[in-house]
Amino acid sequence: MAPPSVLSASQSTGNSAGENYADFNWDELGYGIIPTDFMYTMKCLKGEKFSEGNLTPYGNIEISPSSGVLNYGQGVFEGLKAYRTENDHVLLFRPEENAQRMKMGAERMCTPCLSTEQFVNAVKQTVLANKRWVPPLGKGTLYIRPLLMGTGDVLGLAPAPEYTFLIYTSPVNSFHKGPVNLVIKDKIHRALFGNGGTGGVKSITNYAPTYKALIEAKEEGFANILYLDAATGKYIEEVSACNVFMVKGNAISTPRAEGTILPGITRKSIIEIALDLGYEVTERAIPLEELLEADEVFCTGTAVVVDPVVSVTYKDKRAEYRTGSNSVSQKLHERLVGIQTGRIEDTKGWTLKV
Ligand code: COI
Repeated sequence: MAPPSVLSASQSTGNSAGENYADFNWDELGYGIIPTDFMYTMKCLKGEKFSEGNLTPYGNIEISPSSGVLNYGQGVFEGLKAYRTENDHVLLFRPEENAQRMKMGAERMCTPCLSTEQFVNAVKQTVLANKRWVPPLGKGTLYIRPLLMGTGDVLGLAPAPEYTFLIYTSPVNSFHKGPVNLVIKDKIHRALFGNGGTGGVKSITNYAPTYKALIEAKEEGFANILYLDAATGKYIEEVSACNVFMVKGNAISTPRAEGTILPGITRKSIIEIALDLGYEVTERAIPLEELLEADEVFCTGTAVVVDPVVSVTYKDKRAEYRTGSNSVSQKLHERLVGIQTGRIEDTKGWTLKV
């Protein structure tokens, strides 16, 4: 298949957003999968190195019923985004950080991994091939999902003999549909195994175990669940799909990203931005009681960006927090998105033009 650097005229139908965009009503963009044009695949055998990858039209993949990923969940994933700028450039945000985090996860899941250079190059190629799906500025972003999985056959408990790295994309808008009201549920933990588990890596096995409690929480009217640490049940950890911060006065705190907590790239960037803006930032164990007394609570993540939390409910207690234009989270959000979309000068070398 020809490299998709030039898309055919029929693929680039005009719409209200202009000739260079997919024919899609960007005002209706939510957070679900919208298939784009191309995906990227690269394979490698156990004990060897990833070398050549290629772009193919987005579609189903063939996978052995006895593959490591289907049977034993041997896989990790990443999430990053491509942003449209005012002058129609497309930027990536810290993709090398995703490459490094995938490497950490791959190590934990006994999976070979590609180099940072290969990862970033593959992301760039995939975004370029799907450029017409990067939403207009202000209407959303192109979510990029790299997957690394054991696709070779395995029946005994052992690493698979073959691996596939795959990237697909989907345009997305806001992750949470309404106000972020969180609930804490006793005895349910995010990465189920606590210390020594996989909470600190983006293993595919970390997420489905949260569904049962999440569905229940949504039925009760909450947007998401805030998890406490599995060891003591006293300290806050993270939300199903994002990190969490609290603000009290000029002080911002977030749980240390160690072991059970995912080292979020948005989290890391927000810490740096907050320090630049003059806030005091501490990474530490945060007791639940302290969170309930905070001025503000907010979540960070690639999907959620910086999302203010309206309330946290624990048993019969409900704490409500400041949100809106005077909030710290709004200032952090504005600075982060400004850098990501090229509106604020990137003095940190965080953005990469595709
Ligand atoms: C991301 O923020 O990129 C994520 O991976 C969240 C996803 C689990 C919904």
